[in-house]
Amino acid sequence: MAKVFIMDHPLIQHKLSFIRSKSTGAKEFRELVEEVAMLMAYEVTRDLPLAEAEVETPVAVTKTKVLAGKKLGVVAILRAGLGMINGFVKLIPAAKVGHVGLYRDPETLEPVEYYCKLPQDVAEREMIVIDPMLATGGSASAALTLLKKKGARNLKLVVLIAAPEGVARVEKDHPDVNIFTAALDPRLNEHAYIVPGLGDAGDRLFGTK
Ligand code: PRP
Ligand code: URA
Repeated sequence: MAKVFIMDHPLIQHKLSFIRSKSTGAKEFRELVEEVAMLMAYEVTRDLPLAEAEVETPVAVTKTKVLAGKKLGVVAILRAGLGMINGFVKLIPAAKVGHVGLYRDPETLEPVEYYCKLPQDVAEREMIVIDPMLATGGSASAALTLLKKKGARNLKLVVLIAAPEGVARVEKDHPDVNIFTAALDPRLNEHAYIVPGLGDAGDRLFGTK
């Protein structure tokens, strides 16, 4: 069964308050989403395996630790996932970045795929899927299914705000995928927006609508 981790680091929670506020404009919103994404990248990589190494400092040779294990990849769900990429690649510059274009049909609420470009070696990488919002879970579930079809086996999902419905959907469709979120909000409204949420993440990032 998938586990849900709430990232309760004080800096993440503080910045999320400003991200939620409707009086935060697009410039500040973008900066804050990138900063929170970087903090989440730090938290979600806590369990990466390390191997012993040796380096020579200007003073002496010493044993140190370096990352071992699988290489990393980050997959942004377009559009809003774009806002989180820089935060991740600043901390993990060697990560390959994939993009999955999905939008939610406003009538059916079903995700519609319009773009997919992934690193060719997804099967060998630990892949982290990023999107600010996990609402019904349709988009995240479709992106994870797509990645699995391309061979990915080692997957994590990182979102800023999740709704119980989205968590339940990912748990049902992808019980092998752990979910990392800064907040678990109480519910969806009649338009499947997260309440209280932050509104439309893509529109707030890019100043559309
Ligand atoms: C938003 C968000 C997620 C999706 C979440 O994208 O970024 O991808 O909705 O909703 P779900 O869990 O119900 O699928 P949207 O479809 O608005 O597209 P955009 O990022 O291009 O604005
Ligand atoms: N997509 C968003 O951008 N916000 C929501 O609250 C739900 C889906």
